Amino acid sequence: MHVLGIETSCDETGIAIYHSDKGLIANDLYSQTEMHARYGGVVPELSSRDQILKTLPMIDTLLDKSGLKRTDINGIAYTRGPGLAGALHVGAMIGRSLAYSLRVPALGIHHLEAHLLAVMLEVDSPTFPFLGLLVSGGHTALIRVDQFGQYHLLGETLDDASGEAFDKTARLLGLAYPGGRLLSELAQSGDADRFKLPRPMLNRPGLDFSFSGLKTAVAQLVPTLTLDDQTKCDLAASVQAAIVDVLVVKTQRALNQTALKTLVVAGGVAANQLLRSNIKSMAESEGARLYVPRPAFCTDNGAMVAYLGCQRLLTGESDDMDASVLPRWPL
Ligand code: KG4
Ligand code: ZN
Repeated sequence: MHVLGIETSCDETGIAIYHSDKGLIANDLYSQTEMHARYGGVVPELSSRDQILKTLPMIDTLLDKSGLKRTDINGIAYTRGPGLAGALHVGAMIGRSLAYSLRVPALGIHHLEAHLLAVMLEVDSPTFPFLGLLVSGGHTALIRVDQFGQYHLLGETLDDASGEAFDKTARLLGLAYPGGRLLSELAQSGDADRFKLPRPMLNRPGLDFSFSGLKTAVAQLVPTLTLDDQTKCDLAASVQAAIVDVLVVKTQRALNQTALKTLVVAGGVAANQLLRSNIKSMAESEGARLYVPRPAFCTDNGAMVAYLGCQRLLTGESDDMDASVLPRWPL
């Protein structure tokens, strides 16, 4: 069964084709970063207009490249939420209409569930149950995944998400959008010990996170500094270290509390090299096995949507003609 995956939840158009036996056949991504960079963040209206221009041509190009025709598609999965309403609508309307015209089923997919299971696209993938650390631009959560479709929230952020913490502090440093990746690049040449930044919630029990205090600390620190190149790198390294420390310690606590020995890290921030290496060391010290998707499957992509859609369609799941989207949708 060939499943077409469509991801249009924010500022990227992700298209992929996943085959139930052969695995991932093709995957393509278009990023609107350049378009939004001049505004310092995503402009929702521009995002949805661009999704309209890109989605259908990208689907046809990907089918062409794969030697497939539209009629070879047996099912369609698109991101239904959470995300930007307008951008989601584009994927939902195109996915539904295409499925209707081809007389195949279509399914609306939960973006965070797709992130959490993106690791299954890798040859080396985990078995259930596992502990999931989900770190994206809008969400930060620790989730116990008992099996496919069974998720228990153990802790989450009370304010900013970790990706937001990266992006907002990057902005305070004068970096272009999207700041997270740029900040982590600067951090490579910085001294993480130069600035002592808070590690919010670390000394409190529980598995919840909070990152807004870190942002405030950086906002108060920046006007007192001369932001030369080295200072920017040092501050970037100090911010990155603070965020990663909090994520690693809380995840370690969750491993201990749940006694789970399998750990998955997912979402855009999981592309961060310091997080990947520090969480690996922590997992080893806990005797746990770590699984993290390749960086391109940590950030938004169509492959995770096609994969999850395929699994759901294989279980016989299908929904009616409802093309509504859910911009806010708890997992
Ligand atoms: O999962 P994702 O691509 O989109 C959402 O669902 O939100 O995550 C995007 C987030 C952004 O906040 C971005 O700055 C962050 O992931 N991010 C990174 C890195 N790459 C992406 N943060 C830190 N280091 C990176 N290398
Ligand atoms: Zn995402």
